[in-house]
Amino acid sequence: MKSNQLYNSKRRLFLKKVIKLIFIVISFSFISSVLAFLKPKNPKKKPYRFFEISNDKIPKEGVKKIDILIDEEKTMKIFLVKHNNSLIALSPVCTHLGCFVNFDRNINEFVCPCHGGRYNIEGKVIKGPPQKNLQRFPIKIENNKILVGIKI
Ligand code: FES
Repeated sequence: MKSNQLYNSKRRLFLKKVIKLIFIVISFSFISSVLAFLKPKNPKKKPYRFFEISNDKIPKEGVKKIDILIDEEKTMKIFLVKHNNSLIALSPVCTHLGCFVNFDRNINEFVCPCHGGRYNIEGKVIKGPPQKNLQRFPIKIENNKILVGIKI
């Protein structure tokens, strides 16, 4: 009789553990679903919108800061760089904390006024604190027009 009670007690304990485990798995699954739903969508997955750059805005050599007309009320500044026979479009936003960089023609570098971050003419970091290069925008040519792609 005692061994039967011991068996039932062990069985109850085992069932409690199984139920607890099932509850934990279901809770974890539910919480991860809620977190996945609440997580902001990745802005990098947005498609590029391409904007035409008129010829007069393209530098013959060096760097030019230009405005891109996004819509009737909104413009966006970018740097166009003509260097080693190639054209590059760079974001003016410092990759450290988001200040706007300036191009210093005396040293041929982009300089961030906030914490002294510096980038070479192609937007590569040459002095911290930024860890990442300036963002490059894709450039393509369609029907003899130069287009710059921006995710908006
Ligand atoms: Fe540019 Fe800090 S924001 S170096």
